Amino acid sequence: MKRSLQPERDEALDEVPDDALANRRGEYFGDVLEKAVARRAFLKAAGALGAAGAFRGAALVIAPALIRPRPASALLGLWEDPGDRLAFKTVPPGDEREVEVPEGYAFDTILRWGDPLAADAPEFDLDAQTGPSQARQFGYNCDLVLWFPLSEAAAPGEAPEMASRSWPLVGTLRRLNPFSWRRGPTARALLAVNHEYTTGVDMFRSYRPGADRDQAEVEIEAHGTSIVEVVCDPEGRWRYRRDSGFNRRTTGSSVMEISGPLRGYALMQSAGDPTGTRVKGSLNNCAGGRTPWGTLLTCEENFDQYFANFDTVPSSHRRSAELSRRIPAMPGSTPRKWELFDPRFDLSRDPVEYNRFGYVVEIDPYDPAFVPRKRTALGRFKHETATTRVARDGRVAVYSGDDSRFEYVYKFVSRGRFDPRRRSANRDLLDEGTLHVARFDPGLGFDPDMGSGEWLPLVWKEGGALHRAGYRDQQEVLLDTRGAADQLGATPMDRPEDIEASPITGRVYIALTNNSKRSPEPGPGRFGDRDRDIELGPTAANPRGPNPHGHIIELIEEGDDAGALRFRWNIFVKCGHPDSPTDGARFGDVGDPAASGVSPISDPDNVAFDDEGNLWIATDGQYASEADGFGQNDGIFAVPVEGKQRGLLRQFLSSVPRAEVCGPAFSGDDRSFFCSIQHPHEGRAFEEHWPLDEKVVSKPSVIGVWHTEGGKIGS
Ligand code: FEO
Ligand code: CA
Ligand code: CA
Repeated sequence: MKRSLQPERDEALDEVPDDALANRRGEYFGDVLEKAVARRAFLKAAGALGAAGAFRGAALVIAPALIRPRPASALLGLWEDPGDRLAFKTVPPGDEREVEVPEGYAFDTILRWGDPLAADAPEFDLDAQTGPSQARQFGYNCDLVLWFPLSEAAAPGEAPEMASRSWPLVGTLRRLNPFSWRRGPTARALLAVNHEYTTGVDMFRSYRPGADRDQAEVEIEAHGTSIVEVVCDPEGRWRYRRDSGFNRRTTGSSVMEISGPLRGYALMQSAGDPTGTRVKGSLNNCAGGRTPWGTLLTCEENFDQYFANFDTVPSSHRRSAELSRRIPAMPGSTPRKWELFDPRFDLSRDPVEYNRFGYVVEIDPYDPAFVPRKRTALGRFKHETATTRVARDGRVAVYSGDDSRFEYVYKFVSRGRFDPRRRSANRDLLDEGTLHVARFDPGLGFDPDMGSGEWLPLVWKEGGALHRAGYRDQQEVLLDTRGAADQLGATPMDRPEDIEASPITGRVYIALTNNSKRSPEPGPGRFGDRDRDIELGPTAANPRGPNPHGHIIELIEEGDDAGALRFRWNIFVKCGHPDSPTDGARFGDVGDPAASGVSPISDPDNVAFDDEGNLWIATDGQYASEADGFGQNDGIFAVPVEGKQRGLLRQFLSSVPRAEVCGPAFSGDDRSFFCSIQHPHEGRAFEEHWPLDEKVVSKPSVIGVWHTEGGKIGS
């Protein structure tokens, strides 16, 4: 998010291949699904020949080879450098009023703020928006975009394993002719999109926080998540289906379950919900992730800005306030002043409600009736993202960053194991397990570039460190995740944003967006008023003070196992101008970035992988970095993380002024690319308009990008 206008405080399958069962690289649902489809198609074909038994063993080898040529082709000497996929012509940095994509590519808006998501939902009407109308329209400031496959026969409420029954034929066609599936008139998918925050001055001709209940209600309903069916036409252009039964909004007032260790806990029992089990709404949904069982994880990030009067919490609730000391709400009123209309946002009246925000929320996008669940076992902090990998033993790891200056990187590991045969068996996997926080140690003399690190368990036990630090139980540890992580000696980072794991290597990439407050002088100090002495100066994992442009860390789990408790790490990219000595930028193994055509980049935020294992990066803040000499629209950048071109980062898309770019996401065949253009012309949305055909107000929108000749994105 831009800091300028936000407060500174700051089963799947009834049958899957055996190799997917092991799921050693922690593939996502889509990968598992594709493998299952490929194998089922193979078995079906083999069965038709009356030879299923004979071919069964072969299928285990052939199915993955159909999906990912390596490493089988590597053994045959057919290895292609993954960076070869990225043959697009670099988009120059710019400040244009329209989105720029490489030659040979096209884009279109798919969803805009206010688009009606039901046949009978009201059309967007700037002068007549209400809470109920906004609740049935696409929300504001779209952020995360995730793509969920839909079979031709899928119907709302059916588990996707049922919905995928028609997939074998589709999958076979897709393998033989990748165009046939995506380009067919029946190509369907769901897009899950987060709506992070509202900017009233850009939404209402006259914004009157605290004086207009209708505006407050529109804002509350403009937050949350949209799940929308999209279909692809033969040209590669995706459109949303207004009348789809899959379409769904969750908002700042939707009813959600509290699940996991904090369900029913005393400090979760609010005035509005004495049971501590149900909560209204999810707020500031920033990034997120997709589980291997095909659900959405949506993250509550800067939730502190919605809750007023933290300084006047009644003394009867002192403990509750203490546990939020490291993540304080607003001392007085909030910028949006919802507290004047709804007591749940006023801590002087409902001191506990604040404890019920700051979580990862799980939603089943295939079931519009699913009640979202706040997964409290994953901790309470400013969750930027929730990225899932499956460990060697089948447990599920979820990586999450806490996006504030000098905050931490976390990893939850479930107690139970992922069951790829029965989707429903995974439903509550994220309710039990161990939350860890990362400590990044410097590299040793023989390899100073390769640091080591440890995942420190945030586990309370009688007589243990967290007990001795004053926590009374595990629930208090989860409520005050930041404070407990302080006690364990976690490493304060330069604003951890998105995290993704390579589908090829399993290595984990962490975007650290920037840290203007990192001191140039090494040594400890006190940051802000939070009573915490930390390493304020440069450290091994955060080596620049200040750090205006951010960096990307590559984390290698011990044994490439997502369940490991130790890791190695190095800094893959230090962002900046490739030709600026003062920036100190570095790009993987590229010796002379400027001569090699590396693009300038700052403020990495959301990241995604294509199916070759190239990293795609969305930025947030290049435009705002004008004072630092950047002053270019935010964009999308692609960079190989392996092979001869490791680090050759180039710009693929340039956005529009005052917008950040979020998402990014690929369709299952990598021939479509999706991203959010969030807050275009922020603060000036009535003076300048994007999309360009909007005549009254700029609208945050999701766009789709495709290669006009049908190639994979990047080619
Ligand atoms: Fe909402 Fe950390 O970006
Ligand atoms: Ca951001
Ligand atoms: Ca973000």
